[in-house]
Amino acid sequence: MSVLEIIKSRKSIRKYSSKEIEDEKLATILEAGRLAPSWKNKQCWKFILVKNKEKIHQLALKAGFISKANFFIKDAPVVITVCANPKDSGFMNGQHYYLVDSAIAFQQMMFAAWEMGIGSCWLGAFNEKNVKKILQIPENIKVVALSPFGYPAEKNGLYAKAVKTFAGSKNRKSLDEIVRYEKW
Ligand SMILES: Cc1cc2nc3c(=O)[nH]c(=O)nc-3n(C[C@H](O)[C@H](O)[C@H](O)COP(=O)(O)O)c2cc1C
Repeated sequence: MSVLEIIKSRKSIRKYSSKEIEDEKLATILEAGRLAPSWKNKQCWKFILVKNKEKIHQLALKAGFISKANFFIKDAPVVITVCANPKDSGFMNGQHYYLVDSAIAFQQMMFAAWEMGIGSCWLGAFNEKNVKKILQIPENIKVVALSPFGYPAEKNGLYAKAVKTFAGSKNRKSLDEIVRYEKW
């Protein structure tokens, strides 16, 4: 798949098959994150890869911002959490660049996964305190995002259908709405 084909076909996956992800494919996903650009090449991130089913169940039960909002991750064979030390990145114009660094790295991982037929779903609505407790993340480290990774199930679950409806996942604004030429 070309990069453009990956970009065009990728979608958030919220229902996973039970098939495990092969170790070499997991290594490729992590490598895609490792190679990402970052502020002064500081690479402020840490990627926490969880395969342990009990731990994934804990995350499914407690990692959601509201109740069990992200309970669907329970069936994923792998959950990766990206976190960062803000001190290892920049701060300029009121912007924390650890968020940018980590987001680029995570997106690269998601694209690499998709190329190999592996789905993911960026989770931003998480309870940081609970995630930190479950994954034993130190106080000074920020959790940026989590994502399940796994082969998509053949049929979408109810949750996937509901989120697609309320988030309007298929819709994108037109270029007219988001592009300005020469000035705002
Ligand atoms: C910063 C961010 C936070 C998100 N948080 C969640 C989340 O907590 N739960 C969820 O199911 N999807 C979450 N998503 C996924 C979006 O709903 C999804 O990307 C969007 O609806 C577009 O759909 P698509 O990814 O299938 O193209 C998040 C995406 C981003 C970029």
